Amino acid sequence: MWNQDTYLKTLLFAGHAHRKQQVPSSEMSYVVHITNVAMEVANALTQGLNKDLDGTFAIQCALLHDTIEDTDVTYEDLVVAFGTKVAAGVLALTKNETLPKEAQMADSLKRIVQQGKEVRIVKMADRINNLQKPPKHWERAKIKSYQKEAQFILEQLGGVQAYIEARLKQKIDIYEQYFLE
Ligand code: NI
Repeated sequence: MWNQDTYLKTLLFAGHAHRKQQVPSSEMSYVVHITNVAMEVANALTQGLNKDLDGTFAIQCALLHDTIEDTDVTYEDLVVAFGTKVAAGVLALTKNETLPKEAQMADSLKRIVQQGKEVRIVKMADRINNLQKPPKHWERAKIKSYQKEAQFILEQLGGVQAYIEARLKQKIDIYEQYFLE
């Protein structure tokens, strides 16, 4: 399971970091995204046997997963606030923007695998959340490649938690409707 007080401390930190950000192509607070990813992770942790998983660590990484990438929070800030393990998990979930765009996902996934099962689960939960109806301005090719990338994420990160993998697979299948229509 996870510690509720640590959850709140982490949510307050992440909520403050993302306070000026909205979910892309919407007026929705970005906190909706991170709390939904945390919910997916929490739900997965309650399914099946997860005794080897650190639930608090997983949920902290879920709440913080976009802080380095999208806000002025740094790796060092996370070390000070939450320790090295959480900071390293979040850093792995952060794209290295000095790499060519097409290499960024594979690089991040490689680093995620090195950080452990919890971080893999967070990345799959993030993509589950992001496989909602795509914004109107996305072209068919972009929608298709987003689905393909989701499949790549599942292939690279699967094998750790059957429930979340089945859920991601289901979202990938359902996503097909958006480029077939
Ligand atoms: Ni995200």
